[in-house]
Amino acid sequence: MQGKHMIGLVSAVVLIFMALGAVSAAPPVPEGVITLQVPEGEKATRPRVDFRHEVHADLDCAKCHHMWDGSSDVIQPCNDAGCHDDYKDKRGPNSYYQAFHSPARDLEHASCMSCHRELLKAGETAGPTSCAKGSSCHVDE
Ligand code: HEC
Ligand code: HEC
Repeated sequence: MQGKHMIGLVSAVVLIFMALGAVSAAPPVPEGVITLQVPEGEKATRPRVDFRHEVHADLDCAKCHHMWDGSSDVIQPCNDAGCHDDYKDKRGPNSYYQAFHSPARDLEHASCMSCHRELLKAGETAGPTSCAKGSSCHVDE
């Protein structure tokens, strides 16, 4: 084999291993229910939400985990320090409420509520779309 081709082959193999390494570093998707609620001591305006990754398995992780670089083995919770950790503000970028309810129309950066609403509008299978009884993400509502 000529030297040039050998270098090409070696870099291809190196690239493949780098890619595999990046994929395997992704943390496993948590199974079952993740309870979403404000921390103890903060005033909750609504009951908790039970979130299931299983029903969202077709979506890109980064659609929700928008601060994740796509390869590191840590995925931060929404209310990581300096992120959506303001429980009183309902509007700003650090608002806990906005992480789940922002009305973004762009499905690439949709919140829980905006995605469910856009899908419903498009006549597709959607999740809950309001806080009205029977169509809410919040339990017992
Ligand atoms: C529809 C939105 C959505 C999608 C898509 C999604 N997740 Fe999540 N994930 C969440 C929410 C919400 C939480 C809970 C965050 C919290 O507790 O603040 C979570 C939590 C996690 C956690 C635990 C983080 C912690 O608190 O330590 C991991 C790990 C995780 N997800 C991995 C993944 C991976 C890997 C994928 C893609 C295969 C994925 N998720 C796709 C919404 C999503
Ligand atoms: C990009 C779109 C999208 C985003 C973002 C999204 N969902 Fe969903 N969700 C869906 C779809 C589609 C379904 C319906 C799945 C089905 O019935 O097959 C669904 C279903 C649900 C359901 C009903 C099923 C169940 O588990 O009881 C709940 C609750 C739910 N989503 C909560 C959330 C929460 C909380 C978030 C944000 C952390 C979120 N979703 C983000 C698309 C989305």
